[in-house]
Amino acid sequence: MTDDILQLEAVSMTWESADAAGRTVLDGVDLALARGEAVALVGRSGSGKSTLLHVAAGIAVPTGGRVRLAGHDLTGSDEEARTHLRRAHIGLVFQFFHLLSHLSVRENVAVPGWIAGDDRRRTRERADQLLDRVGLLDRGDDPVGRLSGGEMQRVALCRALLRGPALVLADEPTGSLDDRTGREVMDLLLSLTREEGGALLYVTHSRELAARADRMWRLVDGRLQAGDAA
Ligand SMILES: Nc1ncnc2c1ncn2[C@@H]1O[C@H](COP(=O)(O)OP(=O)(O)OP(=O)(O)O)[C@@H](O)[C@H]1O
Ligand SMILES: [Mg+2]
Repeated sequence: MTDDILQLEAVSMTWESADAAGRTVLDGVDLALARGEAVALVGRSGSGKSTLLHVAAGIAVPTGGRVRLAGHDLTGSDEEARTHLRRAHIGLVFQFFHLLSHLSVRENVAVPGWIAGDDRRRTRERADQLLDRVGLLDRGDDPVGRLSGGEMQRVALCRALLRGPALVLADEPTGSLDDRTGREVMDLLLSLTREEGGALLYVTHSRELAARADRMWRLVDGRLQAGDAA
């Protein structure tokens, strides 16, 4: 088995558009993300960063090339199999949190365990362990809608990590937070994934936050360049 949790080989993505040719957003992307590694993905707005994350998660199917997740061929899998692989190996973090406002803080963290049919008591214990780690255990019973943005994103980090994913994909996780709160959330995201041994691929528009990764990749004209943070 390879040490890479994620591999893309010659991945292309052409979205349908009004003109018949379509819009090519990814144009032969090759990448390998090692287990435990943290990589920042940068690039201009519209350069295809979110598209690349969706392809890596098996949410979108590329028009060309191959995606392997934990050694499994995502591109050769049907939607049900891709969903299964995603739940088994990936935790997702979004810019706007995507929490369920009618549920409590603890319930939001536990949702992936419920969906997977995991033991309810162990799911709750794990949720509380993570909430404690991010300083929100005392808010566990609160409706999640009462939390601040930074607190909501900490809840979303706990949800992403609940089932010990080998890969966390985070699309502008600090994009709707102020600088200081963004730094705090990024600190937690990096330290939590490292503690848990997971790999992390995160999109950011902040040079400072990109520089916190082990490596940086830049999307330019549909291709990936190894970048430095400068
Ligand atoms: N589902 C879709 N259908 C058609 N076109 C899409 C779809 N998703 C993205 N695109 C197009 O692909 C291009 C890249 O979009 P994407 O969201 O990946 O960029 P991004 O780098 O994440 O940008 P931003 O920094 O603004 O979030 C855009 O031109 C967008 O319109
Ligand atoms: Mg995006």
